[in-house]
Amino acid sequence: MRTPLIAGNWKMHYGAAETAAFLEELLTEERDPGVDVVVCPPAVALPMAAMVLTGSDIGLGAQNVHWEESGAFTGEVSALMLKEIGVQWVIVGHSERRTIFGETDETALARARAAQAANLEVIFCVGETLDERDAGETFAVLERQVADLGALDPGHLVLAYEPVWAIGTGRTATPQQAQEAHAFLRLRMSALFGGETSESLRILYGGSLKPANTGELLPLADVDGGLIGGASLDVRSFSAIIRAAADCAAGETP
Ligand code: 13P
Repeated sequence: MRTPLIAGNWKMHYGAAETAAFLEELLTEERDPGVDVVVCPPAVALPMAAMVLTGSDIGLGAQNVHWEESGAFTGEVSALMLKEIGVQWVIVGHSERRTIFGETDETALARARAAQAANLEVIFCVGETLDERDAGETFAVLERQVADLGALDPGHLVLAYEPVWAIGTGRTATPQQAQEAHAFLRLRMSALFGGETSESLRILYGGSLKPANTGELLPLADVDGGLIGGASLDVRSFSAIIRAAADCAAGETP
């Protein structure tokens, strides 16, 4: 049985003051202990978030990490620097990093390895573009994106399937599209790490997930939670998604 994980990727939203206000409000919400919750604010707000979350069971994640410990890498942050301020998780290979900032499968893997070497939990993002889906290349793309993940420790790895065409578009994968992509990814993880490990590895769905569509996506057999952008920026909608995941885990339809 995999514990559901609901992670908020805030992208470039909320500075330190807004982060503190958001998290203080989130902490007042009643939360089911059966769901793991992680928030990923912008890098500059991480120290504030770490302070506000001290003693809580909400995990703190960064949105990116560099593969070297230090050096001449303007604008980058190392895994040890994140670790030092109390970060436990990091998102790697997000499609926005891939399409806007030139992230490749190789650099994403290097970042993930460095993060794990510093004892950070990795949320590794994969997903096809609309052109790739329309060309019937979805599974080939996913296969390529996870081909080298055998270099990672699966015990500290979460996959996130985020079809690029569903990110920030209001359009989600259908339950069938999501389930078949997740099942395919689990099969690839089984080939890399063995069946037992792949059964315990969490695969999150991401792409316009919001309270209104959790009911059709979170109960899917191979969907173990969500990586949420827009809907994670509002305490009420983020909390509603967490509750839906708890209901799902309890076998109730949200
Ligand atoms: P949206 O939920 O805004 O579509 O973003 C998804 C995402 O990119 C999470 O990483």
